[in-house]
Amino acid sequence: MAVIRVELAGRGYDVQVGAGLLDQAGTLARDFIRKDRVAAVADRNSHRHHGARLEAALADIDVGVDWFITEPGEGAKSWDVLARLVDWLLERGVERGDHIFALGGGVIGDLTGFAAAVLKRGCGFVQVPTTLLAQVDSSVGGKTAINTSAGKNLVGAFHQPALVIADAATLDTLPPREMGAGYAEVIKYGILGDADFFDWCEANGAKVTGRDTDALEYAVTKSVEAKARIVAEDERETSGTRALLNLGHTFGHALEAETGFSDRLLHGEGVALGMVLAARYSARRGYITSSDAERVASAIAASGLASELSSLGLTCDGQKLAAHMLHDKKMDAGTLPFILLRCIGEAFLDRSVEMSDVADFLDGELAG
Ligand code: NAD
Ligand code: GLY
Repeated sequence: MAVIRVELAGRGYDVQVGAGLLDQAGTLARDFIRKDRVAAVADRNSHRHHGARLEAALADIDVGVDWFITEPGEGAKSWDVLARLVDWLLERGVERGDHIFALGGGVIGDLTGFAAAVLKRGCGFVQVPTTLLAQVDSSVGGKTAINTSAGKNLVGAFHQPALVIADAATLDTLPPREMGAGYAEVIKYGILGDADFFDWCEANGAKVTGRDTDALEYAVTKSVEAKARIVAEDERETSGTRALLNLGHTFGHALEAETGFSDRLLHGEGVALGMVLAARYSARRGYITSSDAERVASAIAASGLASELSSLGLTCDGQKLAAHMLHDKKMDAGTLPFILLRCIGEAFLDRSVEMSDVADFLDGELAG
């Protein structure tokens, strides 16, 4: 079990990591509960698998739970569901000093966090992430958002949780494909900033996706420590440090857009392939060696994730993929900074990339 502090002046919080912690959620969150009932948000899956455990843990401190339950999937990150959630919270008389519980993956965390950010100009929330991706990434750092017809995560707020409870045992019910997608965000921390952790992932990735408790707990702890450090340094993504967390996301976003943000390619799967492309493009630009780029590709492939663009069966060309990238939120004064690698364990922002060169590179990758 580990407790990682996200150090933010006046708004710091703990991320509790450990198998079985959900059963202690009442005790862990006691300081954030002022009434005899709390509002909790889940989707049908996280509620079905883990809702009763959260209820029992809160019953231990004599607190009841009122549930707002959404359909699973990105559709819950919408104006419509947000409006219904906020109205429901207002009907329940939720006040600024109250804390809403988010039990679920990144979708539930982002939706609940954004509702908490706007409700009465900001009330509290507690993240109880139940996917690997949410435990290592989305539940920590305070980015909250919904999607609109113009794109993903375009409306949101920075709003930090008061507490994160990451229980590895909740991942026992997660489908294997979702474990793989979450693992992409784990190995990302090694590739972008910690060569030793990358080495560890090369040796232990299969144990993580295979849900070995010790390996999983170590991977979540290392990932949260890395994210907490970066968020403490650059909470609002203004200095460039936090932007490094988007390694693989620009290429990945293009792939997600081309596959219609559908089940054909989960976000983490897009990030995994995106990291391979970022590594190979870094080699093309002469920053890293081709053998290091292929080491990244092999580590991704070894965890069961797609590592070859040609394997996706896309019918578009590189120019079309490059055009998708121009909708990236990182666009800055008409240019798109790329997160590339100086070596495994050191990512940096390159503002001098020509989109025509990216398109040419992608044509080669599409051809295989
Ligand atoms: P998700 O929340 O859709 O969960 C994936 C699937 O797993 C869903 O079907 C869900 O119902 C199911 N599920 C959740 N917990 C389960 C459990 N324990 N057992 C069985 N099934 C379970 O997806 P995700 O991958 O967790 O998160 C993706 C979302 O996170 C995206 O919307 C993305 O934009 C967002 N995100 C946000 C940040 C951030 O910093 N805020 C970072 C990365 C991703
Ligand atoms: N997932 C990227 C970030 O939190 O900044």
